[in-house]
Amino acid sequence: MNTKPVRIIQVGVGGFGAVWLDVIRQSADVEMVGLVDINRETAMQACRKHGWSEAIFFPTLVEALRSARADAAVVVTPPAAHREPVVAALEAGLDVISEKPMAETLTDCKAMVRAAQRTGRMYVVSQNYRYQPAMWTLANVVRSGRLGRVGEVKLDFYLGMWFEGFRQQMEYPLVVDMAIHHFDLIRFILGTDAVAVTAAGWNPPWSHYRHDCSCAALFEMASGARVIYNGSWCAKGQFCDWNGNWQIGCERGTVLYQNGVITIHHAPERYEVTSTENVIVRPPPLEGQRYVLADFLRARANGHRAGTDCFDNIHSVAMVFATVEAMRTGRRVEVGDAETRQWSTGQEVRRWNESG
Ligand SMILES: NC(=O)c1ccc[n+]([C@@H]2O[C@H](COP(=O)([O-])OP(=O)(O)OC[C@H]3O[C@@H](n4cnc5c(N)ncnc54)[C@H](O)[C@@H]3O)[C@@H](O)[C@H]2O)c1
Repeated sequence: MNTKPVRIIQVGVGGFGAVWLDVIRQSADVEMVGLVDINRETAMQACRKHGWSEAIFFPTLVEALRSARADAAVVVTPPAAHREPVVAALEAGLDVISEKPMAETLTDCKAMVRAAQRTGRMYVVSQNYRYQPAMWTLANVVRSGRLGRVGEVKLDFYLGMWFEGFRQQMEYPLVVDMAIHHFDLIRFILGTDAVAVTAAGWNPPWSHYRHDCSCAALFEMASGARVIYNGSWCAKGQFCDWNGNWQIGCERGTVLYQNGVITIHHAPERYEVTSTENVIVRPPPLEGQRYVLADFLRARANGHRAGTDCFDNIHSVAMVFATVEAMRTGRRVEVGDAETRQWSTGQEVRRWNESG
């Protein structure tokens, strides 16, 4: 790691931005040199809490870029306000981390990936769910191949979340703002990309969301596996955790994940269970946003790809917009297009803790 800290401007410091403020404040490898938010008071509170000078607040990224010497930007605004700061920061020569989802439309996402390509800067999307102990372990179990090929997966996500902000108004809030985590996990855990999807979306009568917040989708994966995703953000009283409940059917058994527990039902011959194994959860070297930041800094220092750079992430976010299109039209929709398929997926990128 470089001894000189990487200088960061954070855009969007309220809400989930507070998590990033903590992560950056606690890292010796980075230094906060600018806070940008449309809400001045939110930024002032952040300065007071973290002991930063109020002089590092800027009402716009343009002003921050003019006044603060920075190496990187972290963007934690609502999804519709990702494209502008991400592209502006890349064009100013900064490397960028943004929160998921990359943007609210595939057109915006592709423009952002093109900006990274054009400028040669690094753009990483924070898919922190990959770097939680249980999902990390689940990926290692499935990708080790010891249970053979994956044939079918069922993933159920049921939570009742009373949001009052952009999610309440946006179209398909579950799929666009939340399921991006699950779709990215599907690629991460299975080690294969989605090819096509059929889906239906609806809004239950009691939902407080303006648009459909429930969904059922069926993905066809490049490996031939099928993944059924069922989700709702207005579930009544019966909830799973944020990872959802997973049932992964493999050649030699089934892997279950539920509420932090991973269980393998071994069925090496025909269909009968011969033994049941409780898998010990082994965490990654760092968790969540801390891993994302370390992966970004390491990739930046070594010229490697980060695990969730935009060229990889476009293949996760393309699943989101293909699902939206399938819900709108009722048709089977291909995931991505000729342009996104040119961008090399990160499936081949070895995670640094595995190689090192
Ligand atoms: N990875 C996770 O687990 C996770 C969890 C929650 C939210 N998120 C993501 O974080 C992002 C922000 O979500 P949130 O819940 O914090 O939203 P929020 O609305 O609560 O907060 C957004 C902040 O950005 C500021 N802001 C809004 N528009 C801006 C603009 N154009 N320029 C500068 N500042 C602006 C707001 O004033 C506010 O401080 C979203 O992309 C969301 O999906 C990720």
